[in-house]
Amino acid sequence: MNFNRCAPVVLLGTGMSVPTRVVTNRDLEEIVDTSDQWIVERTGIRERRIASMGELTSDLAAAAAMQALDAASVSPEELDMIIVGTNSPDRLFPGVGPIVQARIGASKAGACDLQAGCTGCVYALMLASAGIRAGFWKKVLVIGAEVLSRIVDWKDRNTCVLFGDGAGAALLGVGEGEDAVLAAEVHADGSLDDYIELPGGLVAHPATVETVEQGLHFVKMKGNEVFKYVNKVIPPFVRDLCSQAGLDLREIDAWVFHQANHRIIEGVLRRLEIPLDKAVVNLQKYGNTSAASVFLALHEGMAEGKISKGDKVMLVSFGAGMTYGAMIIRI
Ligand code: ACO
Repeated sequence: MNFNRCAPVVLLGTGMSVPTRVVTNRDLEEIVDTSDQWIVERTGIRERRIASMGELTSDLAAAAAMQALDAASVSPEELDMIIVGTNSPDRLFPGVGPIVQARIGASKAGACDLQAGCTGCVYALMLASAGIRAGFWKKVLVIGAEVLSRIVDWKDRNTCVLFGDGAGAALLGVGEGEDAVLAAEVHADGSLDDYIELPGGLVAHPATVETVEQGLHFVKMKGNEVFKYVNKVIPPFVRDLCSQAGLDLREIDAWVFHQANHRIIEGVLRRLEIPLDKAVVNLQKYGNTSAASVFLALHEGMAEGKISKGDKVMLVSFGAGMTYGAMIIRI
């Protein structure tokens, strides 16, 4: 290993992949006691993509990975590391990372999964950039990928209307000149472990007929508690992160939040006195895709011209743990 300490990190390319099947709010009215009006008013979500049977998290992750590599004209053999943020791996082990590594032919890369709720995207980006700066790796593919539709309870209107399936990827590598990562920080408060959890099927509650009958193998969420927590912690946190980077909040060109709820994005930006049009929002099309959502919004924001070369972008996420984190990156 040739250590090249404090190598500058750059974003080389992005990609995304979502299932073709669209499920609208009207479709959900047929399944649970809900309405298009409630879902749109309370969350902003209009539709989501749902994987077909047999379509796996690793399938979406590999497709997003190849798109990011193609965008950067980098071949899979050049990769040193693959980190996949996911809460819905194909199997608990082996992870999605090694499956993607083999599928795309990244013959020289290490590969693993990272599980930090929806914040997995920021944790993975931070670890990837730290590894590049330290000289461990030259090119790292960071992926967020989820097929949450297999682990949500389609009888529970509190959760099933919120989530969607998809994968996004960002390729980070050694650059020249200035480091693109201007600041990054992650937090956790494990005392709030019951805010969002999937309790059953493992060590705490091994799978039994009873755990299945009780639905412990599905996502449980105290949505309103999460909502209040996020609105409390995120505004001061991102304000501090900007200060750390020596930036005024108004110098951030685009805000890419975890796409959980339009009211959260609006509320946080209002508190920070930032106009809403600085946010990239695509949750109306995809719902909450957990660890994938920031990658999907970053990719679409760049593809649609809302984010341009040279822009300073704030990536912000929060989720099970409770975890939260943010990164300011120059595109
Ligand atoms: N359709 C109709 N009514 C509903 C639905 C639905 N789909 N879901 C809940 N309701 C009802 C509730 O039963 C409740 O009825 P009641 O007053 O008769 O008891 C009422 O609507 C209000 O429920 P609240 O939970 O208070 O609604 P709230 O305004 O908080 O919105 C929501 C719920 C959308 C879940 C919101 O709290 C939220 O977005 N929370 C944050 C979620 C989040 O960010 N998660 C983070 C990441 S997820 C991860 O890490 C995997």
